[in-house]
Amino acid sequence: MPDANARECREPRFTIAWSAAHQGGRRIFLSDWNELMLILEGRVAAVFGLANKRSIAWGIAKKLHEGGAKLAIGYQNERMKSEAEGLILDLPGAEPFQCDVSDDAEIERVFAQLKERYGKLDVLVHSIAFAPPEDLKNAFLQTTREGFRIAHDVSVYSLIALSRAAAPLMTDGGSILTLTYYGAEKVVPHYKVMGVAKAALEATVRYLAWDLGKQNIRVNAISAGPIKTLAARGVGSLGDMLKYHADRAPLHRNTEQEEVGKTAVYLASDLASGVTGETIYVDSGYNIMGF
Ligand SMILES: NC(=O)c1ccc[n+]([C@@H]2O[C@H](COP(=O)([O-])OP(=O)(O)OC[C@H]3O[C@@H](n4cnc5c(N)ncnc54)[C@H](O)[C@@H]3O)[C@@H](O)[C@H]2O)c1
Repeated sequence: MPDANARECREPRFTIAWSAAHQGGRRIFLSDWNELMLILEGRVAAVFGLANKRSIAWGIAKKLHEGGAKLAIGYQNERMKSEAEGLILDLPGAEPFQCDVSDDAEIERVFAQLKERYGKLDVLVHSIAFAPPEDLKNAFLQTTREGFRIAHDVSVYSLIALSRAAAPLMTDGGSILTLTYYGAEKVVPHYKVMGVAKAALEATVRYLAWDLGKQNIRVNAISAGPIKTLAARGVGSLGDMLKYHADRAPLHRNTEQEEVGKTAVYLASDLASGVTGETIYVDSGYNIMGF
């Protein structure tokens, strides 16, 4: 029903019709959800880090797809090919690619393909981390030089390498996202070298945001609460972490993969046009607790 208080908010790339209503003396705004849902129409997004249906990359890809983005979705190697490609078929129009981000030649090849296929890129999602199992099993004090190097190369340097390759394709500005975890800031005993790598990742986000801001490319991290994925299982005591998290977090539950996806849509869209260099928590509020 038309509302006397209805108003329109026009931005260069999207239009949202807002309808104002009054409830209990307070004015509230109800957004037109259908319009919001297509907030990424015309955008091209490359998502790196699909292993299986539990992957955070999959939760993000599904939501970017719902938002209307055209998607290229990356998996690491031949071993992951059939599972990843099978999933990607569920998202009409999405296309798979293979890329090991520890290999500069592969990164160069993939971005040449993306350029040829789409001509431009608007969104880059980096949902990748790895540390050698031994370095996650042993005490942090026993972290090996090679384990430290690999964890930082795959989980941190790759964001720099992918951003450098993506930036020339982001001719209209863009949004780069990565995934981090609270173990970057506070000691989470099982997280070990990954905590140190995530701290470096969060600093990397800020330095990239500074470098790329002049091209209107925004760079942000989502700090997700623990979610049962392949990578998370490698950390150890995941069951205890999930339980503790759900007990302590203000929302008293664990984080859903799709909640991370929804925040990714926000960060990828013009709704977040003024947000860069940030770490945004999607963790049921766990990080605000002091006791
Ligand atoms: N699951 C959680 O609890 C949680 C919480 C916060 C942050 N994160 C972060 O989310 C991101 C995604 O992890 P996930 O939990 O979805 O697990 P996942 O195992 O589904 O995804 C990790 C991905 O990294 C990829 N990867 C590892 N080494 C690679 C390489 N050399 N080249 C290309 N890809 C490589 C794997 O193939 C896999 O697809 C990671 O950065 C992780 O640290 C996870």
